[in-house]
Amino acid sequence: MDHGSTIIAETPFPSAQATQCPYPLYSALRQGAPVHRIESGEYVISRYADISFVLKNSEIFSSRHCMFDDGWMRKASLQDLDDQSRPWGIVTSDGDVHRVKRMLAMEIFKPAKLRARIPQIEAYIDDLIDSVIERGECEFVSEIAKLLPAKVIMNMLGLPPSDLKRALEWAHYEGFGTRFASPKNQAAARDSVLDMSVYLKEIILKRVDDPGDDDLSQHILRHKEHYGRLDVPNLIAEGMNLFNGGIMTTAHLLASMMMLFLENPEQQAKARASQDNLKNAVEEALRMESPSQFSLRLVRQDTVVGGEPIARGSLVLVIWASGNRDPEVFEDPDTFNVERRNSRDHLAMGGGPHVCAGAPLGRLEALIAFEHIFARMKNIRFAAGKNDFANLDTVLFRGPQRLYIEFDKA
Ligand code: HEM
Repeated sequence: MDHGSTIIAETPFPSAQATQCPYPLYSALRQGAPVHRIESGEYVISRYADISFVLKNSEIFSSRHCMFDDGWMRKASLQDLDDQSRPWGIVTSDGDVHRVKRMLAMEIFKPAKLRARIPQIEAYIDDLIDSVIERGECEFVSEIAKLLPAKVIMNMLGLPPSDLKRALEWAHYEGFGTRFASPKNQAAARDSVLDMSVYLKEIILKRVDDPGDDDLSQHILRHKEHYGRLDVPNLIAEGMNLFNGGIMTTAHLLASMMMLFLENPEQQAKARASQDNLKNAVEEALRMESPSQFSLRLVRQDTVVGGEPIARGSLVLVIWASGNRDPEVFEDPDTFNVERRNSRDHLAMGGGPHVCAGAPLGRLEALIAFEHIFARMKNIRFAAGKNDFANLDTVLFRGPQRLYIEFDKA
């Protein structure tokens, strides 16, 4: 067996090893088995070109790849595609249904709306920095990285700040809810999905009678106007996408960015010196440590990917985190380089019709967060002896569980 085959055989996907350090496996897959059938039956697709092909051809590769039965996630089948009796989120719908859902939701992310959000994001990050600055140290993930996007999304949806703790629990378990999670994590994710549905339903019904100027109220009004009626189950599914889509992804981006800056001080210096470099550092961090590592698609018709025939009804698992380190596209792909010219070609925000709806907001939060962190903290370093650098206990998301840092006041 050559080295690559040994890695593939010894590091099944998904597995605890793949969760903690997936990159040697991704590299071996790209080189030796770019379309690789795993034990649970899915085809794992790891090369950039093949992933892009899947993302762009949404008429072949359906996003309706999973179903929820009483909060439990299961694989979708071809029969499920025609079942219109169930609600679908934005991210798991197809065709015209998806186009309308997305069009209605995209109002929230219009450039003028985002510009109006800047002072609020700045105030949140300054408050968070205030809460740790005198101590000269903090646990960055729980004290800053998770809180900033949670506050932003809660404010956007008009959810009361007093529900922050509950919201963080839901967001935490979202990534644990895939079929690839341990039974314990799947059960926690299920509880969280059910609890959140009840909560969102209550909020949505209140907003119908008494809309505010928050984006959830506005989304409900647009929904009612477009469809001529109120479809609460679909609104809950969409609300969950907006809520979950924006919290942990951005939190992991912030935490991974901090890690990358601390591991690469010369790159941090370049990002501090130029806003263009800092903007590109956001893209480099998304490329290097994609917060969401993969997604799935259900194959609607017999097809061929990377020379491999794939039968209709199969599921493909596209690992954008692997495409993002494909040397065919990114020179020296394992190096964090804030001046890389094509960092933004990464697939960390997905691609095709489902490309991340909230991408401009996630990028904006990361940029503002580090502008303020760099302005107020200098000599940022790993806190000695405190870090274990363990990744989250989920193969879907990537980011440090904890990150203890020390710094001086700038
Ligand atoms: C840096 C942070 C982010 C990352 C890495 C990220 C990643 C992604 C990815 C990979 C997808 C595509 C999923 C697929 O095709 O299966 C997606 C879709 C989506 N994201 Fe994000 N996201 C981020 C921030 C946000 C934010 C801040 C929001 C705001 C609420 C958001 C809301 C959404 C929504 C609604 C979709 C579904 C789009 C569609 O299906 O048309 N995301 N995101």
